[in-house]
Amino acid sequence: MKKLLVIMVMLAVVFSAPVFAGGQQEKAEGDGQQMAKAIEVLHWWTSGGEAAALNVLKEKVEAEGIKWVDTPVAGGSGVQAMTVLRSRVTAGNPPAAVQMLGYDILDWAEMGVVANLNELAEEENWDAVIPDAIKKFSKYDGKWIAAPVNVHSENWVWANQKICDDLGIELPITTWEGYVDALQKVQDSGKVALAHGGQPWQTGTIFESVVLGVGGPEFYEKTMNVPMDQDALKSDQMLEAFKRMETLRGFVDDNFSGRDWNLASAMVIKGQAAFQMMGDFAKGEFLRADMVPGEDFFGFRTPGTKGSVTFNADQFVMFEKESQAKRNAQKVLAKNVMDPEFQVSFNVVKGSVPARTDVPDDEFTIIGKEAMKDLAQANDDGTLFGSLAHGHGAPSAIKEAVFDVVSAHFNGQYTAEEAVEALAKAVEAAK
Ligand code: GAL
Repeated sequence: MKKLLVIMVMLAVVFSAPVFAGGQQEKAEGDGQQMAKAIEVLHWWTSGGEAAALNVLKEKVEAEGIKWVDTPVAGGSGVQAMTVLRSRVTAGNPPAAVQMLGYDILDWAEMGVVANLNELAEEENWDAVIPDAIKKFSKYDGKWIAAPVNVHSENWVWANQKICDDLGIELPITTWEGYVDALQKVQDSGKVALAHGGQPWQTGTIFESVVLGVGGPEFYEKTMNVPMDQDALKSDQMLEAFKRMETLRGFVDDNFSGRDWNLASAMVIKGQAAFQMMGDFAKGEFLRADMVPGEDFFGFRTPGTKGSVTFNADQFVMFEKESQAKRNAQKVLAKNVMDPEFQVSFNVVKGSVPARTDVPDDEFTIIGKEAMKDLAQANDDGTLFGSLAHGHGAPSAIKEAVFDVVSAHFNGQYTAEEAVEALAKAVEAAK
């Protein structure tokens, strides 16, 4: 599949008609300083919190006189956005800039169709302020090919504080047994215990945190990060992980299937549900609803995972453009993405933390401050791992294969034993 795509992309790039502006091929630039009048950005930030955060970037780019042409493709974790991108590139008409995750960035870089950002990166010394764990996905063949704006982490549980107070549930919950007791108490009270969206990437997001909670950092790395060890995938610990998924299945509401992640967050915000297991982009939804952390809502590490962080960074990749004017506009976008002040104003809204390590945490919430501390500590302790569900554990073919098995199991198509077998087979076949 990937080889076919590479051939199609190469042909598209070679034969694609230069992108015309206003029907006329852009005039050859004189001094090379000309600036395109607009820049198209493809992304999947369509929820309230995501759109509010993206608007911060849009306003900064437009303040420099470049019109932001917005191409949103709804669908969490970018699955649909990457499908649209593939069709755009194959048609020889890639957007100027694209939000992208981890291994997808490296795949596109391998195809030789993304812009080299080295000149700007060297001017601004990005190498000194971006952690190695992120740089692994921002650079290809020694060249900067992506501008990282943030770091999200996935092993979180979000709680409605009032429901927990009313039921005498003390937060944070640190053990699996304590979490199941709390879920049961909520369900017995008539509220929805676990707000969930039954989309494969969301179930995959819960699954990887459960795996981390069952087997700890080493087991997570062996099973959720390439090369992904077959013995570990077939282990009793993986069986226990699927059994815990069955326990969680008993705490979601009847209408969970297909629900968007931010609508699950809304159930916790409105007090219809007590918990959501989701990345800290969910925090962006709570903050946008004017909820106060520690009073109206609480975020804590998925029970059993404290001390580890499963991360993903959102990055912007620029696709090669013939015209210097367009390349200059791409440079403006990348420069704004990496601006330290922007990385504060964007991330406090988004629920993530800055990709840069030289940004103060003053303006972040108590949870944001904790997330920044957790990230630095996990980086030092060797317990910072790429989120599989969000593109940082393995290439997308393997990620999708895991999603398929975990989703089928969650929907009752496999027993836990069958799921263990199916997972190991699917991962091997997708390599
Ligand atoms: C993640 C992405 C976040 C948020 C989330 C839900 O992969 O990094 O920024 O968009 O998906 O779609």
